[in-house]
Order: sequence, then C-alpha cells, then structure tokens
Amino acid sequence: MIPADELPVSVWVWDLDIDAPTAAALSGWLSPDERQRAAAFATSELQRRWIAARAGMRGILGTVLNVRPNAPVFALGKHGRPYLTSPDCPYSFNLSHSNALAAFAVCDAVVGVDVEQIKALPEGVAGMVFSPPEIAALEAEPETRQAEKFFQFWAAKEAVLKALGTGLTVSGRSFTLDVSQAAAPRLIAADWANEDTQAWRLLAFDPMPGFTGAIAVRTTRPLRLTLKHWVFDL
Ligand SMILES: CC(C)(COP(=O)(O)OP(=O)(O)OC[C@H]1O[C@@H](n2cnc3c(N)ncnc32)[C@H](O)[C@@H]1OP(=O)(O)O)[C@@H](O)C(=O)NCCC(=O)NCCS
Repeated sequence: MIPADELPVSVWVWDLDIDAPTAAALSGWLSPDERQRAAAFATSELQRRWIAARAGMRGILGTVLNVRPNAPVFALGKHGRPYLTSPDCPYSFNLSHSNALAAFAVCDAVVGVDVEQIKALPEGVAGMVFSPPEIAALEAEPETRQAEKFFQFWAAKEAVLKALGTGLTVSGRSFTLDVSQAAAPRLIAADWANEDTQAWRLLAFDPMPGFTGAIAVRTTRPLRLTLKHWVFDL
C-alpha cells in the first residue's frame, strides 16, 4: 500500500527500434499531422523511432484513460508541451526520448521527464546550461565520472524545464539543483517569478544501462516512482 502522503508517479520506458511493418501498423494510431511530422524525418530509422515514441505515448494514455490510442485526447500548449484537453482529467504527462529509448511519465501533479544517453562529456556545455554552484559540484567529481554526472545533472535540469513547460526558452542557469544526493536532486534556488522552490520534488532513475533519467513534479509530497516497461500490443 502507498502511504497516504506519497504521490504516485508512473514512468514507462520502451525501445524505439521497431521494424517497418510495426511502424506501418502503429502509424494508424497517429493523427494525420503526426504522420506528416514523422514523414519529415530524414531517415527511415528516425521516422520509425518518432512513430514508436508518439504511438507509445498514445498507447499509454489510452490505457490510463481507457480510450483508443488514436483518440484525440491531447493538444499542444505554449512552447509545444502536450496536455490533456479534458477539464475533468487530473493527469499531467510528459514524454522524453534519447536515441532508441523513450520514457513517458504520468502523475496527477505537473510532471516533467527527461532521459539522456550517457556519452562523452560535451566540451564547454556545462558553462552554458548549469548555474555556478552546479558547475562547481560537477568539477568536484572525479574526472572519470564527470560525463555520467553531467548527463545525470542535465536530465534533472531538463525534467524541471519540461515540467515548467518552457523547455529551453528558460535558461538552465536560472535555477540551481542540489545534486549531492544523486537519487533525489533538490531545487534549492530559482529566479522565476511565482514559483515556490519548496514545492518541487525530483527523482532520478536508471531506465536502462548507458542511459540516465529524471522526473520533476510540482508538489510538496514525497514521490513514489514506479518504473514499467511498455510493450506494443498490436
Ligand atoms: C522541450 C524541449 C526541451 C525538448 O527537447 P528534446 O531534446 O526534444 O527532449 P525530449 O526528448 O526530452 O522531449 C521531447 C518531448 O517533450 C514534449 N515537449 C515538447 N515541448 C515541450 C515543452 N515546452 N515542455 C515540456 N515538454 C515538451 C513532447 O512530447 C516532445 O516529444 P516530441 O518531440 O516527440 O513531440 C525542447 O523542445 C524545447 O526547449 N522546446 C520549447 C521551445 C521551442 O522550441 N518550442 C517550439 C515549439 S512551439
């Protein structure tokens, strides 16, 4: 049983590398606009991955809301954040993809999710996207761990920006996370108007080897994260 004060957050992860017949079948779940967007990707691999990401999002929403995957249940908000259009529906959701991995979070408070593939440390990027205390924390890490730490920090930062719905229109330098507890980063300062920094909870998760992920939720309640694997049922 979930203790009464914990806020449940479900995160599904799945593999975006699907074959052409599966992509063709899943295209039937998408809207004409989405099919057009998929077709605009330069390679068939990128097209199939985008279809798998959007169809996964639609499939999970269909399961949660008990509707067909092609039901028109969401629209795009300011800065392109998808949201549920029904005023009766309490859920917030968010999608992220990195390489061939997707993650989708659902919660009944505002949620953002980000997954990142852990790669080589990108030269000079930390200074552009992290606040000075975060850069100091990153530099204090042993050199061998800095790439992994960079992507862990970045997933947590981007999860916050995606929960806010602004994405990168708000600078990563405008807020500071305390990442001394890697599993549960804390928002400790922000220069945004009308946002209570105490009213945020974050959790990190390991979606699969070689990747890192984080969720950010606008709540004062402790989070209870359940990680699940999404499988297409065609
Ligand atoms: C949101 C943003 C950080 C995502 O970057 P990304 O590297 O594609 O990251 P992710 O894979 O984690 O997230 C992508 C998903 O987040 C969701 N998303 C899109 N815009 C979002 C926003 N403003 N806030 C939260 N989530 C958003 C979508 O579901 C998107 O999936 P899609 O690309 O398949 O449609 C980036 O797109 C951004 O800064 N957008 C806002 C500004 C902008 O350019 N807007 C133009 C469209 S109006």
